[in-house]
Amino acid sequence: MKNSNFYKKTAQALGTPVFIYWEKRLETNISRIKQAAEHHLANRELGIYIPYFTNSNPYLFSIVRKHGCGIAIQSTEEWHQLNAHNLADKLIASPTVLPQEELKFLLEKGVRVNLSSIDEVEWQINNFPEKNIFIRLDISVDSSQRTGIKPWEITGLRKILKKNNKALAGVHIYVGTLSTFEKIVKYTDIVLALVSREFPEIEMVNLGGGFYYNYEKTFNQHFDWDAYFAMLAKKIGTYNLSPNMKFEIEPGRDVFADVGELVLSIHHVVWNERGTICQIFTDGSYVYMPSATVRERKHQLLFLDSQFKESSDRSISGWLNGSTTLSSDFLLPVIIEVPLDVKSGHFVIVKDIGAYGATQHLEFLNRRPAAEALITDNKVQIINERGAMTDKIRSVPQKPIFIK
Ligand SMILES: Cc1ncc(COP(=O)(O)O)c(C=O)c1O
Repeated sequence: MKNSNFYKKTAQALGTPVFIYWEKRLETNISRIKQAAEHHLANRELGIYIPYFTNSNPYLFSIVRKHGCGIAIQSTEEWHQLNAHNLADKLIASPTVLPQEELKFLLEKGVRVNLSSIDEVEWQINNFPEKNIFIRLDISVDSSQRTGIKPWEITGLRKILKKNNKALAGVHIYVGTLSTFEKIVKYTDIVLALVSREFPEIEMVNLGGGFYYNYEKTFNQHFDWDAYFAMLAKKIGTYNLSPNMKFEIEPGRDVFADVGELVLSIHHVVWNERGTICQIFTDGSYVYMPSATVRERKHQLLFLDSQFKESSDRSISGWLNGSTTLSSDFLLPVIIEVPLDVKSGHFVIVKDIGAYGATQHLEFLNRRPAAEALITDNKVQIINERGAMTDKIRSVPQKPIFIK
């Protein structure tokens, strides 16, 4: 079936706005990483853990699990959501500094936690003395990351470990989302130099996520995994790291970005006096794609006519409006190129929205969540129903409840 038929079938069955995910693309993205790793890292073990919050639909994570990847989580809510779909069997936690009850919960559930402060290390040693110690390190310039043990805290960490007769088992870093290849090379170099100097005996180095994805391109948008693993293999050799040392990565954006698209209906088009710029009113809103991580939202768009036929003309400028009263409710915060014949009854597809898309839905402005569909083997499945009209007030009791 052609893509346009899937748009048609989904939009007609579920209405719009609706997110569509393509299983095949997810599989391709995972195997691209795996193949590159296998090629360059030979027999060295690489764990791929996809962060749940980058997409948050359990059905997509069952595909992730089917392909041998684990899931990175950051909170007890995420554990419960995955457990409800029997997906809590291969988890790691790379959280920020956690409330103690959450840390306790995750450790009790057998989730390996990358501890992000010295206090957490001490707490784990005191409360779970049998568990190995994995830490998150902040190796950024000026140690400016929000969480992570700073390089100058390593001496103190060593003392604590020695006093308690514990060895460090692993380190974790996070470079920052949409990091360029050069930045990633730099951070890889810093952490491997640190590991070889300070902790050559550790069993695990987790290099986190943040791999660049190019939203502005229409092809070759993905991170260069081949060059990345070639670089990693070379540095492992340069620093003469133990053959037993395992590696992990936590890519989110690169794995999900082009897997998802948002389909919107155009219900109104208003032109300026000279007919040069139009306001396109859709049934979307920025609350469906607020881009907490990248404000520019540089997504590619596809315009479809009422028969779901793609328009190649882009000769006019316009704004893509949301459907709420907020004056800044634009789907993309910039002027875009649109077809001259754009009109009510047409559709617009926002591409590359599989990562940090539906998962970011804001309840502010009170729009109910959009439905989500998955295309598998030429079939369309509903993997999230459209939210209810009253979702926003689902926990508001009929009457206030007095606390005794
Ligand atoms: C610890 C950690 N790992 C992985 C990721 C995923 O990053 P990205 O989606 O940029 O690959 C994030 C994102 O914030 C993160 O904080």
